Amino acid sequence: MGTYVITGGASGIGAAIALQLRTEGHRTVVVDIQAADIVADLATADGRNAAIAAIREATKDELAGLVACAGVGSHVPDRELITAVNYFGAVELVEGLRDVLAQQRAAVLLISSNSAPMPTEAKYVEALLSGDESAAGAIARDMQSQPVYSGSKKALTLWMRRNTQAYAAQGIRMNAIGPGYTKTPLSAAVEDNPEYGDAIKRFIASIPIGRPGEPQDMADAASFLLGDRAGFICGVMLFVDGGHDAMLRPDQF
Ligand SMILES: NC(=O)c1ccc[n+]([C@@H]2O[C@H](COP(=O)([O-])OP(=O)(O)OC[C@H]3O[C@@H](n4cnc5c(N)ncnc54)[C@H](O)[C@@H]3O)[C@@H](O)[C@H]2O)c1
Repeated sequence: MGTYVITGGASGIGAAIALQLRTEGHRTVVVDIQAADIVADLATADGRNAAIAAIREATKDELAGLVACAGVGSHVPDRELITAVNYFGAVELVEGLRDVLAQQRAAVLLISSNSAPMPTEAKYVEALLSGDESAAGAIARDMQSQPVYSGSKKALTLWMRRNTQAYAAQGIRMNAIGPGYTKTPLSAAVEDNPEYGDAIKRFIASIPIGRPGEPQDMADAASFLLGDRAGFICGVMLFVDGGHDAMLRPDQF
């Protein structure tokens, strides 16, 4: 049994992952801006640094894995906030804990999205991957929220792929999940948004498996990818989306 850190674990997918891991007998440390073991704002550099220090303290004897799940949706008008939480709130936390993750040969699971392959601005993704938060934020200000959201998830997934080899060389196994539409407070807010609501309802109706995702669908995949049975799975983006990515991009894999 091990200790797992879950960001965004106060709600939705993160809460389901934390509960699943506890049900399996693991200890969890939830990091979130609300109702968490470690309360921190991952949108800011200060908040991330405080979270990293508190995680080090809480897991100094044992860390089996880190799940970077905190995120905000495309309904959020503040595009710099989407940029700050979805990309930097994940990547900077993983990088800031890299030595501990290596020491403990821990697993990392990034919660991306099946929006990651969707259209966005290449220069935004490049700015994210270069680590320049103010440049990425400035580009995001001139974009719509949806391509900022998908761009933040594309960059997160590319960051994982580009760093898989170096992290694996240190004993850190990184993977990502690309959830499709999943019933959580975040997706309910997007569905309620007058700008996106109708399109989202049509999107849900087109899910090949015939239903929207549940947080438990993500928790089951997370539990597998974090555990020993996935010991040879590394650098993978697993779409957990009822077949939506295959439907939308049948010739790409
Ligand atoms: N629900 C979906 O359909 C869906 C689909 C694809 C990807 N995702 C991704 O899954 C992840 C979880 O989403 P969810 O649907 O469970 O949403 P949610 O709103 O239920 O949970 C998100 C959590 O992140 C936390 N959070 C937000 N901003 C934060 C900040 N600045 N600092 C710390 N914590 C912060 C929230 O407090 C919340 O507990 C997100 O990264 C989201 O992009 C969700």
